[in-house]
Amino acid sequence: MSLLQEIPSETFCEACTPVLETKRLAMRAPTLVDAKTVAALANDRRIAENSARIPFPFQVSDAESFIAGANKAAGEFAFLITLHDETVIGVIALTRTEPSQELELCLWLGVPYWGKGYATEALQAVIDYAFTELGHDALQAGTRVTNPASRRALEKCGFQWTGVGLYRIRAIKSSAPIDRFRLERGIWSAIKGWGMNSAKRAV
Ligand SMILES: CC(C)(COP(=O)(O)OP(=O)(O)OC[C@H]1O[C@@H](n2cnc3c(N)ncnc32)[C@H](O)[C@@H]1OP(=O)(O)O)[C@@H](O)C(=O)NCCC(=O)NCCS
Repeated sequence: MSLLQEIPSETFCEACTPVLETKRLAMRAPTLVDAKTVAALANDRRIAENSARIPFPFQVSDAESFIAGANKAAGEFAFLITLHDETVIGVIALTRTEPSQELELCLWLGVPYWGKGYATEALQAVIDYAFTELGHDALQAGTRVTNPASRRALEKCGFQWTGVGLYRIRAIKSSAPIDRFRLERGIWSAIKGWGMNSAKRAV
């Protein structure tokens, strides 16, 4: 992961949202120009029913509302996930549901992009950013108990199961059981260290 734009300290704003790059992806702040593309991708029941706040159907006006509100709250970040040819494939965000809570990671990808490892790659970039540039000590995530792909992607990034809970799922107008996960800085740095050791052995 490389950080292409630096964030001025103590400043949080849309213009200050960095661009994060991985081998196959770039993550950047959404703009209103992206609204139609985001709506076309997100308008799928399989995405809405596995996310807390995404409505179904998801219209262009919903995308515009999301984009207008993105990256406005201090310390929260919303990134569009794009391929290097600038194709938009999904969204990943660091949000805070209550002022005192740790940041929570959530993401979705358009269905054509599932099953290619993109979620894991995007998660790793944003996790690295949260621990290195933002200085967090832990991150949270939650996923419906019926969502093994999300669970697996979180676990591949080092998230550990901490218990169960309930999320209000907007698309089903009801609450649903979720598994809660937490990633602590120590686990993250150990995983990063293991990666470096493997690379050295392979040389
Ligand atoms: C969850 C989601 C982001 C995963 O995206 P993805 O790019 O397909 O994920 P990845 O390819 O990085 O990793 C998925 C892992 O789950 C595994 N997986 C997929 N379906 C699975 C299933 N039914 N049972 C068990 N494992 C499964 C994959 O094999 C992969 O693991 P592997 O690399 O060890 O083989 C995507 O499905 C999505 O957007 N879903 C709708 C929204 C959502 O659920 N968001 C998460 C909650 S906030």
